[in-house]
Amino acid sequence: MWRKAAGTALLAFVVGYVYHTNPDLPEQVLQYLPLPHQPSQSKPSLEQVISTAWETIITAPTRQWGRVAVGVNACVDVVVSGVGLLQALAQDPGVGRDHEVLHSTADLKEAFIHYMERGSAAERFFSDEEVFQRIARAAAEYPGAQIYVGGNAALIGQKLASYPQLMVLLCGPVGPKLHEMLDEQIIVPPESLQETDEYHLILEYKAGEQWGTTRAPQANRFIFSHDVSNGEMSALETFVASLDEFEPDLVVLSGLHMMEGQGRLMWERRLKDAVVAISDVRSSVPVHLELASMTDRDYMNSIMKEQVMPIVASIGLNEQELLFLSQAGTGPHADLPSWGGVPDVGRVSDILLWVLEQHGRSDPQSEADLTRIHFHTLAYHVLATVDGHWANQVAAVAAGARVASTQACGLRTIDASKVVLRAPLEFHSSHSEPREKLSLDPARPVAVWRRHNVTFHLAPVLVCKQPLRTVGLGDAISAEGLMYSEIRPHQVL
Ligand SMILES: *[C@@H]1O[C@H](CO)[C@@H](O)[C@H](O)[C@H]1NC(C)=O
Repeated sequence: MWRKAAGTALLAFVVGYVYHTNPDLPEQVLQYLPLPHQPSQSKPSLEQVISTAWETIITAPTRQWGRVAVGVNACVDVVVSGVGLLQALAQDPGVGRDHEVLHSTADLKEAFIHYMERGSAAERFFSDEEVFQRIARAAAEYPGAQIYVGGNAALIGQKLASYPQLMVLLCGPVGPKLHEMLDEQIIVPPESLQETDEYHLILEYKAGEQWGTTRAPQANRFIFSHDVSNGEMSALETFVASLDEFEPDLVVLSGLHMMEGQGRLMWERRLKDAVVAISDVRSSVPVHLELASMTDRDYMNSIMKEQVMPIVASIGLNEQELLFLSQAGTGPHADLPSWGGVPDVGRVSDILLWVLEQHGRSDPQSEADLTRIHFHTLAYHVLATVDGHWANQVAAVAAGARVASTQACGLRTIDASKVVLRAPLEFHSSHSEPREKLSLDPARPVAVWRRHNVTFHLAPVLVCKQPLRTVGLGDAISAEGLMYSEIRPHQVL
């Protein structure tokens, strides 16, 4: 009798699950009906084979998270035409000049022109709060301005909130605009609410766009804010304090990179605070640290030296941070100045193994907690886990890859004609000998290999050919990977 009940419950769960991840089901089913004028003999493309395979290999873990707490960076992103906004602020074109810190609208204009004529990206702090708020209002009201939830913690929270069964707590500087945009399911503790939003203004320009004598050689963006709360990680203590009551079974922390811009003295002090705060939670609950979007090698170095790495269970990072990590600690391939194209899988594998052996729990005698790294780069993702601590890695890495395609294309399901496979189909488990030659089977598109006490799972990404929006892609990948991951209870040695 109970077997039947369990079977029914399982069926209900599976149906609910399929529906949830795939609300466009009828449309998708239609895709498979032969259309009269379509060449029916044509072989399915690699992209079609891979995206079909994902539907079967991405399965929910047996034990799912019920309560996830996310902190601590959150803001409102306003994307607007740079030239348009400056004109609305009654600025005339002129000569470009860089400013370390922007003190006035005139500084803003000069710095914007400086970067626009080079076509390079830049991010600056605007010191005058009152003037900044005026500019932010003008930007938000500018015709065609796009307003988004911003900040890694808020973006991860939004992604998690797409799972209706999950309770999500978000701590960070949440103003009225952000609060209104957040998913209703997200709980924001009252201490996190503030009267004004932290706006990040993203001034875009197109390739060849002209303003006065300035002409942009390529499209790019100039970003500025007066974001003190995120820069100081001021929500960190509130976040940790709220965990006692919320009792999460997973904690996701991001926003360390926001302190980079505040100068060495500040981040040296706050990093120590962060270590104390994380140590407070780590004994009972796994902590995932999202490192993506670091830009400063020295800062990355001090994150290693201050021992943030060993006290978290899991980290998410991209190719830039992975190389910084190795350079900071003179690990494998530290002499590589940059990846140059698609990062070599063997080299990535070498550095991941080194991180888990140097700072992780690869040796069961180690005091470290780190047992999981979710690495993401445009063409592929790798989930590296110390054996015995995690389960459901095939589904987790594939789910992260799938969300990278769908979110970049702005679709709910993958359209194989809008994506392209950029991952190598053959690669090695290491850059140096002895190494194993590996290949990717498109019909079962997750490659698996083992080195010492670590298992690697690689999933190719079907890269969106015309991405709509790539901000927050890393956050969505890490969040989705966590949702399909299962932690094994600590083994008694
Ligand atoms: C792997 O685990 C074994 C025990 O299971 C341990 O003795 C060994 O040192 C570990 N290897 C590394 C490289 O940490």
